[in-house]
Amino acid sequence: MILVTGATGLAGSAIVREFARQNTPVRALFRSPDMARPLRGLTGVELVQGDMLRAESLTTALRGVDRVLMISSADKRMAETQYAFIDAVKAAGVPYIMKLSGKESGIGFDPFKFQGTREHVEIERHLEASGLAWTHLRPSQFMHRYLPGALTGVDAARRELRLPIGDIQLSPVDVEDIAKVAVALMRSDGHEGMAYDMTGPEALTMKEVVEHISQATGTTFTYVPVSLEEKLREFRELGVPEAFAQIIKDQLAERSRHPESYVRTEIHEAFGVRPTSFAEFAQRHAKAFLRL
Ligand SMILES: NC(=O)c1ccc[n+]([C@@H]2O[C@H](COP(=O)([O-])OP(=O)(O)OC[C@H]3O[C@@H](n4cnc5c(N)ncnc54)[C@H](OP(=O)(O)O)[C@@H]3O)[C@@H](O)[C@H]2O)c1
Repeated sequence: MILVTGATGLAGSAIVREFARQNTPVRALFRSPDMARPLRGLTGVELVQGDMLRAESLTTALRGVDRVLMISSADKRMAETQYAFIDAVKAAGVPYIMKLSGKESGIGFDPFKFQGTREHVEIERHLEASGLAWTHLRPSQFMHRYLPGALTGVDAARRELRLPIGDIQLSPVDVEDIAKVAVALMRSDGHEGMAYDMTGPEALTMKEVVEHISQATGTTFTYVPVSLEEKLREFRELGVPEAFAQIIKDQLAERSRHPESYVRTEIHEAFGVRPTSFAEFAQRHAKAFLRL
């Protein structure tokens, strides 16, 4: 049996739906029954409640499992959560974890300059030292990060993308592609001890990103390069907690220092998954880009 954690989140729910679409049985871990409601009734999906931070709550979830896909929120408890979960998986005698990790696509981006990427590196090391068999899947920025409502997304009211990253490139990836690749990895053998970086098919400047959004929505969106200080002020106006705003500021500052972005689609190709372009993503989400 395969267990997927973080099943109610953005990546986890796409992955669980992909298992269902492929008629492959999967167990999905959730914390809150409300959050799990959209997953009810999916073919072959067994929903089990548990908290990754509390080993005693995971007995049912881990029973009979031979592979785990570990996902949790990129919040201040990510490292603590995943360390505790790795230890619980080991204690339960489950031999293998694939970690949904993360890696910036900026060439030269120092993962230790941003809390999110630093913690992914540290958790990967903890997993590698655990004695369990492991695989790391390292997607770049999710394309969803440009939707209104995301901290680095468009301002739908102003029809603007306001970011302090000048003309740098990023290579965002579609979560649906991640889901297809993750399911293929979990269903096949021979990936133990491997780490797979994964981006979308193009390195794009923010000007190119808004051109795709404008084309898809039939509405002009503009890229407005702002200063880091101005972006921080906007975060404060939105009520973003100061500590979190500072973390995102670190990420944006480090992005600015590395203008070129690499493209890695080998893992798409290995499983015959056609990499989704940003233009296709924008067309699929055209209504969401216009939602105020
Ligand atoms: N966003 C990006 O651009 C990006 C890029 C590359 C990699 N990543 C990485 O991808 C991962 C997943 O991101 P996402 O956007 O899918 O996250 P998300 O939408 O916030 O989902 C996180 C999931 O983890 C669950 N979770 C958190 N703590 C838990 C606990 N103690 N016990 C059980 N479940 C718990 C959440 O459950 P609840 O519903 O109960 O909260 C939720 O289902 C993160 O590690 C992130 O760093 C993100």
